[in-house]
Amino acid sequence: MIQENVPLKKFNTFGIDVSARYFATFSNTDELTECLTQNAGYRSIILGGGSNILFTKNFDGIVLKNEIGGIDLIDEDQDHIYVKAGAGENWHQLVLYCIGRNWAGIENLSLIPGNVGATPMQNIGAYGVEIKEVFFELEAYSIAEKKVYTFSVNDCEFGYRDSVFKNRFKDQFVILSVTYCLNKFPKFNIGYGAIEQELQKMNVKELNIQSISQAVINIRTSKLADPAVIGNAGSFFKNPSVSRQTFTELKNNFPNIIGYDNEDGSVKLAAGWLIEQCGWKGYRKGDAGCYERQALVLVNYGKAPGKEIYDLSEEILQSVKNKFGVQLEREVNIR
Ligand code: EPU
Repeated sequence: MIQENVPLKKFNTFGIDVSARYFATFSNTDELTECLTQNAGYRSIILGGGSNILFTKNFDGIVLKNEIGGIDLIDEDQDHIYVKAGAGENWHQLVLYCIGRNWAGIENLSLIPGNVGATPMQNIGAYGVEIKEVFFELEAYSIAEKKVYTFSVNDCEFGYRDSVFKNRFKDQFVILSVTYCLNKFPKFNIGYGAIEQELQKMNVKELNIQSISQAVINIRTSKLADPAVIGNAGSFFKNPSVSRQTFTELKNNFPNIIGYDNEDGSVKLAAGWLIEQCGWKGYRKGDAGCYERQALVLVNYGKAPGKEIYDLSEEILQSVKNKFGVQLEREVNIR
């Protein structure tokens, strides 16, 4: 059923108080087709968990909330389990489901807000793991052709927080389901500094995916803002990459700058560090702020209009550019 003038506050983790001219949920492709047909001519947004979007104004079109459910073991071989999940399933619930069955590969991605459909969209990543490493295939619905396509890992053109669905195919497909290839025999990934420390603190003697998941949960809850308490969409910016030469120059001027080597020889900078050095960490103007424990996270303390958060992000972007000559890029979708 299509509703009119629907408040979106509870459908976006920033908690921005805007409304949609039309709103509907869908649980299968028939319902999706019906919504799109009835509202042909209107702009549409497909919403999952609403955890990577900043609304800066009311949306004068139709918001379609993806509620396609289901978690199925569809295949297995000696080493792998193939799990297919509906795009509307909550991501962390899926992680817990898999961990409970000892299916490994996504434990480092515990507690990331949002739904399954968003995981390939922005190639979610945390603590040394990206979704592309366990991705098998996905099904997506072409809005123009009203037809379902299967995308392999190559078709998705994954990059750092990036995929074909944010670029060439932006707003053209609705992700329906994702199939992950998980491991029966875990390959532990604890290279990311903070994990090992946390495991020691937890006094873990024998490594398993349950304890890695718990370590990640502990780190995330200590650094990142819980959207149920303070509105936010995780990292607001991407970590920018610069050439090795630029990094060397920056390092001369700012000896403490944090950089990680990329495979192609460039260096990825910690945007949180850059932003903190510009004095933004813990900054608050009205209800818009830069989170006190992680400068990469912008927050809504209650009633901030999306525009104020956007304006703050613009000021941050400018000051990082002025101080370091580095251009930040937003990770969150602005609407
Ligand atoms: N740092 C600071 N000040 C800050 C924040 C960070 O100096 O205010 C420094 C940290 O001390 C650390 C470095 O920057 O040395 C990196 O910080 P952190 O480990 O917190 O990770 P991040 O690079 O800021 C990225 C992802 C997160 C992911 C973490 C852990 C992006 C844009 N963000 O953050 O992903 O959880 O690594 O893997 O790549 C998200 O995408 O929404 C997200 C939360």
